[in-house]
Amino acid sequence: MTAIPEQRILLIIGGGIAAYKTLDLIRRLRERGFFVRAVMTESAQRFVTKLAVESLTGSRVFDDLFALTEDSSMGHIELSRDADLLVVAPATADIIAKMAHGLANDLASTMLLATDKKILVAPAMNLRMWLHPATQRNAAILQNDGVVFAGPENGGMACGEYGPGRMSEPLAILAAIEQVLASGTRIPLPADFSGNQEAADVLAGRRVLVTSGPTREPIDPVRYIANRSSGKQGHAIAAAAAAASADVVLVSGPVALADPLGIRTIHVETARDMVRQVEAALPVDIFVGVAAVADWRVAETAPEKIKKDPKQEACLTLVENPDILAALGRRSKDRPALVVGFAAESEELVENAQAKLTAKNCDMIVANDVSRASGVLGGENNKVLILTKNGKESWPWMTKQEVARRLVARLAAMLAETGR
Ligand SMILES: Cc1cc2nc3c(=O)[nH]c(=O)nc-3n(C[C@H](O)[C@H](O)[C@H](O)COP(=O)(O)O)c2cc1C
Repeated sequence: MTAIPEQRILLIIGGGIAAYKTLDLIRRLRERGFFVRAVMTESAQRFVTKLAVESLTGSRVFDDLFALTEDSSMGHIELSRDADLLVVAPATADIIAKMAHGLANDLASTMLLATDKKILVAPAMNLRMWLHPATQRNAAILQNDGVVFAGPENGGMACGEYGPGRMSEPLAILAAIEQVLASGTRIPLPADFSGNQEAADVLAGRRVLVTSGPTREPIDPVRYIANRSSGKQGHAIAAAAAAASADVVLVSGPVALADPLGIRTIHVETARDMVRQVEAALPVDIFVGVAAVADWRVAETAPEKIKKDPKQEACLTLVENPDILAALGRRSKDRPALVVGFAAESEELVENAQAKLTAKNCDMIVANDVSRASGVLGGENNKVLILTKNGKESWPWMTKQEVARRLVARLAAMLAETGR
């Protein structure tokens, strides 16, 4: 996609080793026609020079909160006002913590606070720093605030370890930037909760049960069958329902996300664990099955690690897992007033989703394209097709948080119509 000329990115560079990749990001943004203005933290300047960033952006780098006299027309408020999107890359654990808690003690953090523009962060840090509960809590706060995350990815670290925390590649960050810009540039202020006051009027005190993430089906004590679901969409829906005053239970498979604040989160591994916890949470008013539940499990989990045997072909016998969505849709006792399923399809999206709506007796199917090319699985954005008994509707690309907010508003309206 080519950028609409004059789209302006305010790029905040934090003090991480991945700052060298940000130089390439600047180059790629400029190639697409974006205007890039950069702000560097003091630490960032220990990793890459202002000169390199100025050469690549073609404009001066800002780094001093108190330098108004140098260029009074570009104070911190003007800098963020002038931008269409704020991008933080690399987003250090320190910047993420400051953003989550509203600190503003340097130019970068002050601008991140003094803006109503969307913010995209590309975290980069050692995996222990990323997985630390403090960072996970901070990241969850930012996600709830509507900050979009590009990455981090799993991978080798500069420190020699392997795991989550590696900054996404410049092209992936660029794709995320283009998607965010395509869905508008402003974060709605809390007072203007995208019309969700009406949702809150309906959902206050109503019980909403959401499943999220993948399941893991063990093969032996060390191996399992799983899928690429990140849980981002399911967790966002749980958070949006809670923000609309619902009493939410989230049943989550193994994900690298923090439990959403204020939501009872139950952690499970297998599809059968998930079924048990879903049934234990009934009755509920709305069930939203977002989890990518494994269709199959291994017929018999080996009690010990399976050894290689050159004389014999390795063979797994799979049996079908229980279908949680169909079981809830077809329940006679305690059927939720609304049963909503997600259909992750990589081909024939509409046909497959339509078949699922009928076969599983659902009130709504949210279909999304999970082919590798779509970038939906594990990504920050989603493009969904909503199918109900009354017809279908295609929503544009938007962040998973926006899909969640809109979906919750829609479900509240549908629940009000049922009169239950
Ligand atoms: C060699 C080196 C590499 C570092 N890499 C990272 C990193 O990748 N991510 C991170 O969050 N912090 C990293 N740090 C620590 C940050 O530089 C430090 O927390 C700093 O205060 C961040 O400042 P800033 O957030 O204002 O840019 C690193 C420090 C050193 C010395």
